[in-house]
Amino acid sequence: MPKITLDGKTLEVPAGTTVLEAAQAAGVYIPRYCYHPALSVSGNCRMCLVEVEKSPKLLTACSTQCAEGMVVSTASDKVKAARRDVLEFLLINHPLDCPICDQAGECGLQDYYMEYSRAQSRFSQEDKVLRQKRRALGPHLMLDNERCILCTRCVRFCSEVTKTAELEVMERADHSFIDLKAGKSLDNDYSLNIADLCPVGAWTSRDFRFKARVWFLKKAPTVCLGCATGCLAEAHHNEGEVFRLMPRPNAETNTWLCDRGRMTYKALRAGDRLTKGFIKNGLIDLEPALREAATRIDEAKGAAAVLGSPWLSVEDNAALALLAAAMKTEHFCFDFKFETGIKDGILINKDPSPNAAGAALVKAGKGGLGMEEFRARLNSGAIKLVVAEARAAALLKEELKASGARLIAFATNRADIPAGAYATLPYASYFEVPGTFINYQGLKRAVEPAVAAPEGVKPLWEVLNKLAAYSGASLRLDSAADAMKGMA
Ligand code: SF4
Ligand code: SF4
Ligand code: FES
Repeated sequence: MPKITLDGKTLEVPAGTTVLEAAQAAGVYIPRYCYHPALSVSGNCRMCLVEVEKSPKLLTACSTQCAEGMVVSTASDKVKAARRDVLEFLLINHPLDCPICDQAGECGLQDYYMEYSRAQSRFSQEDKVLRQKRRALGPHLMLDNERCILCTRCVRFCSEVTKTAELEVMERADHSFIDLKAGKSLDNDYSLNIADLCPVGAWTSRDFRFKARVWFLKKAPTVCLGCATGCLAEAHHNEGEVFRLMPRPNAETNTWLCDRGRMTYKALRAGDRLTKGFIKNGLIDLEPALREAATRIDEAKGAAAVLGSPWLSVEDNAALALLAAAMKTEHFCFDFKFETGIKDGILINKDPSPNAAGAALVKAGKGGLGMEEFRARLNSGAIKLVVAEARAAALLKEELKASGARLIAFATNRADIPAGAYATLPYASYFEVPGTFINYQGLKRAVEPAVAAPEGVKPLWEVLNKLAAYSGASLRLDSAADAMKGMA
C-alpha cells in the first residue's frame, strides 16, 4: 500500500493504483480525454499531465502508478500551463462547429476550454487541416473526422469490449484519422456506446442528432426492459417526450447499453401506439371496450383464465392475481421459465423478458398453476377465455389458436397483439408509470415515470380495477403499490 502526497494531502492507496485513480478516490478531478475506466490505458491525449517531484517532465496521471513517497501536484502553474498548451494543440485543427454540433453542452473540448484555457487561438481558420465530414457509418452512427481528437476510445471499445475491431487509426501524424477497416461495417450490438464514449462530437447518434439540445433535457432514472439483464438506464426527456436512453453505469450489471435496448423508448411515440381499445379489428373507446371484455369474461364463468406476464412489473402481476381472485377462477398462472445468463459475454441475456423472476415472486405469494398445466388445460378445452398481457399471450399462440379460446389482451402497441385476439385494452408504458422488476441476478430494479401517458391511457392496475368493476367486483386498488398488500 504505497503512501503518496497529492496536493499536500497524504493518501494510502492499493498497489497498482494510478495517480488519476488515486486523485479521483480523494475527490480531486484530473481532466482526461483518452482515459476511460472500462478501457485499457492508452495515454495519448496528454490532458491528464501532473507534476511529480523529482521527475524532470510532467507525467500522464492515467498511466503513472503511485509509488511510495511520490509527491504529486495536480494544480501547479506548470500543470495549468501544460493543460492550456494541450488544449491549444487539440483545438488547432478543430472546426468551428459548436453551434451546429450535437455534442454541444456535453463536449469535453468546450468544457475543458472554459475551465482550463480560455486562450485566443493563434491559428487562422484558413490554416486548419480539413477532414471528411458527416459520414453515416453503420445503422446508428455518424462520424465527423474533423472533430476527432484521436483519443482512440472508439477504437479500443471495438477491440476490447465488443471484440469486433471494426475501427482503426489510419495514416500517421497530422494525417491520422479514424476509419473502418476494409470489409468491416459498424453494426455490432453495442455500437451506440461509441457516441457516448467519444469525448467530442466526432461520433454522434443518428437517432438523436438534431432532435434536442442536451441542456434542455431532464433525466429520469429507469431500467431497460429489453431483456432479463435489466440494465440501469436514464431516460432523457423534455416536454413529455423521451429523446434517448443513456446508461447508468453500476458495478452490479452494466457500464453500457445494447443498441436494441437503447431503442426500446421508440415504442412510446410509435405510430402503432394504442390509445383506445381494440375489439376484433376495430378501435373503440376504452369504456365500451372494457364493458365488452367484462361481458365475455362473465360469459366464460369458470372457464375464464388469467395469465401473468414476465413483461409486466411485480405490482401489475399482483393486480392480475387479484383479478383472478375476483373472477373466482382456478385457472391462473405466473410461471415463466426461460434459460437465463449473458449470451454474448457482454450484456444481452438469453431470457428476452425483464421480469420472469418478478412473476415467480407473485406465484410464490398467490399460488397458481405451472405453465405446463395451464397449457394442458387450454388444450383440453377447460379454458375458454384467457386474460393476458399481449407478449405473454404470444407465448401460448399455438394453444390459443388450436383451442379457439378467446383472448382478452393488454398491450401498449399494436405490433404486440397476437393474431386472433378478441379484445385488446391499452395500458401505460413503464416510461409513464412506476413499477418494480427483478433481473436475472435477483436484483430489484425500480422504474420511475419519465413522461405522462397519452390522454386516456391508464396504468394497467387501473385498467384491471375497471375491468373487475364492470363484472360487479372490486379489486380495491388506488395505486400500483396497493396490489402488493398482503404479499411478502
Ligand atoms: S472519434 Fe471520438 S472517440 Fe474516436 S478517436 Fe476521435 S475523439 Fe476519440
Ligand atoms: S442487455 Fe438487455 S437490459 Fe441491457 S440494454 Fe440490452 S436489452 Fe436492455
Ligand atoms: S487521459 Fe491521460 S493521457 Fe489521455
